Amino acid sequence: MRIGLVGVGRIGAFHAATLKGLPAVDQVVVADADPARAEVVAKELGVSSAPDVTALLGSGLDGFVIAAATSAHADLIAAGVAAGVPTFCEKPVALDLAETERVLELVEASTVPVHIGFQRRFDAGYQAARAAVETGELGYVHHIRTNTNDAFPPHHEYIPNSGGFFRDCTVHDFDIIRYVTGREVVSVYATGANRGEAFFGEYGDVDSAAALLTLDDNTFVTASGTRYNGAGHDVRMELHGSLGSIAVGLDEHTALRSAEPGVTFPGGQPHMTFMDRFQPAYVAELTAFTEVVAGTRAVPCTVRDAFAAFRIADACELSRHENRVVVL
Ligand SMILES: NC(=O)c1ccc[n+]([C@@H]2O[C@H](COP(=O)([O-])OP(=O)(O)OC[C@H]3O[C@@H](n4cnc5c(N)ncnc54)[C@H](O)[C@@H]3O)[C@@H](O)[C@H]2O)c1
Repeated sequence: MRIGLVGVGRIGAFHAATLKGLPAVDQVVVADADPARAEVVAKELGVSSAPDVTALLGSGLDGFVIAAATSAHADLIAAGVAAGVPTFCEKPVALDLAETERVLELVEASTVPVHIGFQRRFDAGYQAARAAVETGELGYVHHIRTNTNDAFPPHHEYIPNSGGFFRDCTVHDFDIIRYVTGREVVSVYATGANRGEAFFGEYGDVDSAAALLTLDDNTFVTASGTRYNGAGHDVRMELHGSLGSIAVGLDEHTALRSAEPGVTFPGGQPHMTFMDRFQPAYVAELTAFTEVVAGTRAVPCTVRDAFAAFRIADACELSRHENRVVVL
């Protein structure tokens, strides 16, 4: 199949390389708002490039992958749907809730499949945690802790087009909390601060944040994250239940050091980027998208799922700004 990809920045170039290696994919064509960048990446990866997204969508694609900046997602999803091409789009769907809802309506009124990129759903650890909740082996889950700690911040132009910390970063935790538990968030209290470079604050954003969520079965969740985690890229989830506890992302590569004398775990090199932490999950996610394109699989993460996670992120932004509990 022939897959077109738009947006060849950090994740787009990485996704283009992954797509090229998939057995179901014969051709990859890339485009970017900066056509010179698309040409450079195409040359590096040995794929072709198109001068712009109109040419890309008009080139006989079987599938369309959107990895451009978040501010461009809504229009690009609309273009993919209008062209009738099965579409994959990186999270989140848009910068705000109203536009996310418009995309939801557009996609649900069409028959074109649209798959949103929450790759943690394809990670073996999160899948095992979901199975542990489903089988009841943890008993009832009373507390969950999640963290999304980036080792270093993205380039500063990224921030004004990202939607802010909760919509850009913690939204991954919100999606996976729903996926693992099958429960909905009913209220949030969130806070955040800018303690690193000043540009986060200049864009009205924070670089470290935390939220306390209450789920509809009275499970309490603390979700924290930062753009500055010196120890490495650290993404984990702990679930504590009446019969047992389980941790996702706790292995030899966890960016954590024990303070206990004589304890050497974890002994491996910490992950430094989301690309190395989630490499197998991204392969599984894009493989799933090729199955959606082939018509052999239903969309595994829908715009409705993305809308639900985004609503939680949006509530956290409101909570942070108004310093109060927000009920969903
Ligand atoms: N799932 C994940 O783990 C994950 C990780 C990183 C980023 N992302 C998401 O991927 C998207 C891209 O992030 P990134 O870190 O690669 O950003 P980036 O800034 O490195 O790259 C964005 C690219 O999009 C291009 N672009 C912007 N507007 C465009 C438009 N209208 N048409 C075509 N190209 C356009 C830019 O020129 C740039 O090359 C964001 O939405 C982000 O939320 C997801």
